[in-house]
Amino acid sequence: MRVVIEPPGELYRRAARLVAEQVRAEPASVLGLATGRTMLPLYEELARLHHAEGLSLARVTAFALDEYVGVADDEVGSFRHFLRTALVERTDLPAQALHLPAATEEGAAAAAPAYEAAIRAAGGVDLQLLGLGVNAHLGFNEPGSSLASRTRVKALAEETRAANRDTLPGRARMAITMGLGTIREAKACALIATGAVKAAAVAAAIEGPVTASAPASVLQLHPQVTAYVDEAAATGLVRRRYYEEAEALQRRLEGDAGAPTC
Ligand code: GLP
Repeated sequence: MRVVIEPPGELYRRAARLVAEQVRAEPASVLGLATGRTMLPLYEELARLHHAEGLSLARVTAFALDEYVGVADDEVGSFRHFLRTALVERTDLPAQALHLPAATEEGAAAAAPAYEAAIRAAGGVDLQLLGLGVNAHLGFNEPGSSLASRTRVKALAEETRAANRDTLPGRARMAITMGLGTIREAKACALIATGAVKAAAVAAAIEGPVTASAPASVLQLHPQVTAYVDEAAATGLVRRRYYEEAEALQRRLEGDAGAPTC
């Protein structure tokens, strides 16, 4: 896993550059999108690149990681609303290119395999963006999720409901989420975590044993993951100095010692 430790401004510029490079190399890329506060500065930076540097998402297909079960379409607090306002309205990503695993309680059994089929039909996810739960969840794969799980309905953990309480649609107790096995099939993944509240989850994800008790640790089994971590979220990392040295050498190999240009 490539671990990039930077202050937030530089961190988001680097993460956005990864997305921009993917889309510039393959304009018809399939992106996996995450929601949550962590992702907002990334989407802001992508919007800036769209306006300032002509980055186009016009041919991108996007699949959201997850959605609450039983929310009204585009309800405030829903992930469709989040992604529409954070990305679709601020770039040229077409509204019809944004897919979410939306489901009612009754419809969830059919919605999950249909979502998997839609991802497969699009050719699979090229770059999966991921935030991190305080309990090291990915999407809504709460601790205990099978490392081979597919898109399905999960009950929200109490700590997740508490962490999301400001935006959680009132009655949401469940979500439909890509599984850890689904996420692992993305060709590349970018994990972003910021703030001291994520330090334990970051350490579990990057350095802990691979275990269903820390779902994000499954990323250790993926060959193409970059973790973007700010300094506060990196405080639990035992091998921090090694990651910083390795990153400096990697940038030298890439001819990128200074500030990035997108
Ligand atoms: C939510 C989402 C995750 C997200 C996580 C962190 O529950 N399902 O995809 O990564 O919480 O959210 P935040 O970035 O707001 O801390």
